[in-house]
This record gives sequence, C-alpha cells and structure tokens, in this order.
Amino acid sequence: MLNYIIQGGNKLEGEVKVSGSKNASLPIIAASMLNGNQSKLYNVPTIHDIQIALKILKILGCKVKKTNNKILIDSSNITSYEIPYPLMRQMRSSVIMAGAIIGRFKNAIFSYPGGCDIGTRPIDLHLSGFRKLGINIIEEGGFIRCSCDKIIGTEIHLDFPSVGATENLMLASVYAEGETVITNAAMEPEIVDLQNFLNKMGAIVEGAGTNIIKIKGVNKLKEVSYTIMPDRIEAGTLLCSAAITGGTIELKNAIPDHISPILSKLEECGCKTEVKKDKISLIAPRKLISTEIKTLPYPGFPTDMQSIFGAMLTTAKGTSVIIETIFENRYKYTNELIRMGAKITIEGKMAIIKGVKRLSGAEVLATDLRGGAAMVIAGLQAKGKTKINNIEYILRGYENLDKKLNSIGANIKIEEGDKN
Ligand code: UD1
Repeated sequence: MLNYIIQGGNKLEGEVKVSGSKNASLPIIAASMLNGNQSKLYNVPTIHDIQIALKILKILGCKVKKTNNKILIDSSNITSYEIPYPLMRQMRSSVIMAGAIIGRFKNAIFSYPGGCDIGTRPIDLHLSGFRKLGINIIEEGGFIRCSCDKIIGTEIHLDFPSVGATENLMLASVYAEGETVITNAAMEPEIVDLQNFLNKMGAIVEGAGTNIIKIKGVNKLKEVSYTIMPDRIEAGTLLCSAAITGGTIELKNAIPDHISPILSKLEECGCKTEVKKDKISLIAPRKLISTEIKTLPYPGFPTDMQSIFGAMLTTAKGTSVIIETIFENRYKYTNELIRMGAKITIEGKMAIIKGVKRLSGAEVLATDLRGGAAMVIAGLQAKGKTKINNIEYILRGYENLDKKLNSIGANIKIEEGDKN
C-alpha cells in the first residue's frame, strides 16, 4: 500500500500540462484489436488502468510495446477470445474489450465485471445491444459467452446514454453487415475520440458527439497512428486544486469545449477563468462561493467531477448542494472529508455541504479513484498534515498527480504504507 503525505496550506501557482485521457485511451486500446494490424497510440497516460488493459491485450495474443506515452500494438496474431476473470475483476471497463473481440472474431468470453466502489454498474445495456446485432449470448457460471455467424447492422435504442454501452456497440458493429444506428447514444468527448480513431483506421462512423451514431460496416481496417485527446477530468481536478488554495493555474494541452460545464461552475464559485486556444487559466478568489451541482450525462456536469467539487466546496462561503444522478453510491468520500472537519450531510442522492473556514489535516482513505483525488484537494487546503491511505486508487487514473501539483507549489510525498 502507498500513501500520500500532504502538508497543506500552500497556494498553488503555475503552469501544468494535462495528460492524455484515461477514458478515451481504454476504448481506443480495445479498438486497436479490430484491425489485425499495427496501431500506434500517442499521449496515452502511464497509469495503472492502462497497464491492466495492455495485460489483457497481451494475454489475448497482441504484441504490445510501451515507451513513455507511446504504445505500439500489433493485433495480427490474436489467439484467444477470452478475457481472464482476474483482470476483468480488476477493471470494470475491461468489458469494453468484449465489443472489439466480438466485432473482429464473432466470438468472445468474458465475465460480469461485478459491482464497484461507486455503485452496482450493470451491463444490461451492453448485452441487449449485442443481442440486437444478432449475437447469441449464453450466461452461465458468471461467464458470458458471445458468438454468432455474422453481425447484422440494426437500430439500437439505449434506454440510458451509457458511455460504455455506446462504445461497446460501436466496436462490435464496425465489421457488421449493413448499417448500425445507435439512438440515445452517449455524447461524451471520449466517444468522439473513439469515432475519430476508428475512422482513421478505415471504419465509417458518424454522429459521435450527438445522440445518434451511425456505423456502416466495412470489410477491412488498416494500420493507424493516433494521438489521444487530453483528459478533461484531470484538467478539472487540477483547476479545483488551484481553486481551493486561492491560487492561479494555467493548463496546457486542455480542450476548453470539453470542460465548459466545469469552467462555468468554477465561475459561479467566484473563479475567473480565461480560455486561449488550448490553454485555460484560472484565478481563484480569496474565498470560494457555494454553488449547486447536478451530475448529468455530457454535456451536463460530469459525475467524475462530483467528488472533486465536493471537496472544493467544503471551504466555500455558504451552503452548497450536490445531486448525484448517475451513480448510486458516490458519496463514500464524504465520510473521509468529515474526518477533516467538513460539514456534510447526505440525504439520498443529495449532499449538503456547509462551508467551513479551513479543514484540518487527518489520516484518511482514498475510497475510489475520484474520491481519492477529492482527498488530495482537501489535503492541499487543510491545516497541517493529511495522510491519504490506499492511493493505489488514485494511481489507477492520474498520471503523476503528486509531481504535477508539487511543480506548482504543493507539498506531497509518497510513502510506503503498512502491508496489511
Ligand atoms: C464511464 C466512465 C466513468 C464515468 C461514466 C459516466 C470510462 C472508462 N468510465 O463509465 O469514468 O463516471 O462513464 O460518465 O469511460 N448503466 C446501466 N446499464 C448498463 C450500463 C450502464 O444501468 O448496461 C448505468 C450505470 O449503472 C450508471 C449509468 O448507467 O448508473 C452510467 O454508466 P455508464 O455511462 O455506462 O458509465 P461507464 O461507461 O461504466
């Protein structure tokens, strides 16, 4: 186990470069199994979730070479269609691999990813979409066996605009006979990135970024090189880190359009933000102001930023209200913030946060990836020392968060924790 030790109270000031997007990289890595050829990916973050994804590709028979943020994948010799259960358990989003494997081989075996720390996270929408494409699914012993002779394009309406289901169905239908139309599709920027990647390797996909995505099946895909989009959730996390310390920050390599729901909330909290091409700057007020937030599918306020704002608002003037509508169990981190002196009450989907003057350092736990990042934000503002246990969660999704924050004035050290 690793821990962060944060000495709070430093004002953050300076420029930071945003890394490549975790949530865009994962489906694109899966998609690189489709071409039976080489894929060169640039700007892939070095984080634990990517390592798991690459492990799965290797087990299936891909050749994988990673150098810093560049990954070379050769999918010409895939020998297995089965995603091993231990890896499936480690990362829920490994379910995305299924669409690519079925798309290419008309066969796939994987298991239920199970629940996770933020909610039950079912995959019913993925599976009913696969069935509509003509894929037979047998569920037994916790495993899901998919097979078919051919995938046939059709119209699939999603009851909810699930990001993962939209991506999985795009991957499964690139080689389909005829056209697949996904309605009520998720509109997240990561889906546009996936479309751009697929089209660059020769697929015919249009509509990503709107709620109707059309995929015309093709017979062949070619080798490709592609640069992954910047991570909008990391960008938001860095902005909030500076904001809670009353600091200033300039983000390089961020796409302003992707984070406009985040920027407008920061403005409501009293921050001044400025957008110049791919740079975003933020000047925080001396005292943040409370606000109201409701998480929604894109272009609404992202659920992945909920805990980050939750932490930032603990010291804002007045009472803030958050309503979490996407995941049912995404407030675990608030118990940890309460240990640091935050005044938070949870009523069902709602968190009510009464701003306090200052948090106080304490020993706390990273409850999940974004909940862990929330503890970092709190630790930056808190008086004294904050020890965050189990930062493995944070390392799953953030590349060098401690180093980036230290480069603009934070004081964060990593230490080896107890082994139990
Ligand atoms: C992706 C992101 C995650 C983000 C989430 C919502 C990745 C790797 N992860 O997760 O960071 O928080 O989008 O923006 O990109 N649902 C069903 N049935 C399904 C699928 C989903 O009921 O078959 C529900 C989920 O339980 C949840 C909601 O739909 O309540 C949103 O889930 P979804 O959009 O699928 O999130 P993920 O793709 O898992």
